[in-house]
Amino acid sequence: MPVITNIEDLKRIYERRVPRMFYDYAESGSWTEQTFRENSSDFEDIRLRQRVAVDMTGRTTASQMIGQDVSMPVALAPVGLTGMQHADGEIKAAKAAEAFGVPFTLSTMSINSIEDVAENTTAPFWFQLYTMKDQDYVARLIQRAKDAKCSALVITLDLQILGQRHKDLKNGLSAPPKLTPKTFANLMTKWAWGIEMLGAKRREFGNIVGHVDSVTDTRSLGTWTAEQFDPGLDWGKVGKLMEQWGGKVILKGILDAEDAKMAAKLGADAIVVSNHGGRQLDGALSSIRVLPEIMDAVGGDVEVHLDSGIRSGQDVLKTLALGAKGTYIGRAFVYGLGAMGQKGVTTALEVIQKELDTTMALCGERKVGDLGRHNLLIPEDFGGRWQA
Ligand code: GLV
Repeated sequence: MPVITNIEDLKRIYERRVPRMFYDYAESGSWTEQTFRENSSDFEDIRLRQRVAVDMTGRTTASQMIGQDVSMPVALAPVGLTGMQHADGEIKAAKAAEAFGVPFTLSTMSINSIEDVAENTTAPFWFQLYTMKDQDYVARLIQRAKDAKCSALVITLDLQILGQRHKDLKNGLSAPPKLTPKTFANLMTKWAWGIEMLGAKRREFGNIVGHVDSVTDTRSLGTWTAEQFDPGLDWGKVGKLMEQWGGKVILKGILDAEDAKMAAKLGADAIVVSNHGGRQLDGALSSIRVLPEIMDAVGGDVEVHLDSGIRSGQDVLKTLALGAKGTYIGRAFVYGLGAMGQKGVTTALEVIQKELDTTMALCGERKVGDLGRHNLLIPEDFGGRWQA
């Protein structure tokens, strides 16, 4: 086994191990993938200020997200089809998160169901909700998340219709994979994945199959979203969902200061600045580029989190120093999961924590809560010089 020193190392093993269809699913953005690329590359435009001769003993990455203690403010993001990246993927990722002391977020589009994860963990997890036209189904889903003692509902606002990802269409993405000659040939080279998958608890969308009647193809994410998702979702409906849940709510997919103000006004416990990992509106700005403007608009009113583009502890540090209280990793943990199962997720978290901790020390800080804009060098036009 090679020595793993960064997230890229996990990605290389992941690419070798997991069927191309699922690698492509995770590793794609929509259309030209400009936003997907810039989500990561824009972090490089922000530089760090080195400080020396500061006592760096007794450092800690521990803090809180929505009032919950975390060993570092890095949650696992909701990722669809995680259980296709590795057998029982959601259960394994949730267990790794629990042991590490960070929140796990289960996607509506997961393979393992809400109940599977609840049965295999003790720490409460977060549940990510997509809103469907079938309101009874949504009500049942919310009730299932309550019964599973989920400690926050993460409502995704930026995916009522799916952004087009060319590779998924060309690959005929489905769970479980359809056996065409092309997928069969690729699966033959991924035998370790296949053997483990034969023993998996589930190989189809666990929150849906057996719970909704009106879907014509339960294997296809594209068909499912097109038939089921509610394109009429608006702020009024978001408010009603928040009432229905009655607990902590995180609104995910905010990329505009006006939307951030609406979310804060509705009383969300946190918002996630996100463009869905560049998978929805290609051409939108990267999350990190809009974060300063959103902090200026609502930083005093609501807790701000960020996802999309984070691949290192340095990315986490830059996000926190801009004022966010939390971050999420999606692809970074999926690489670990696909590469080495639960151990790989733990490795991804360890890599990020070590990078965060060491960078904090070299910036002259001991606590994540002390990070601030004073740690950063931000180009004057970082937010972009756009015409009014
Ligand atoms: C689902 O959330 C996706 O981005 O594929």
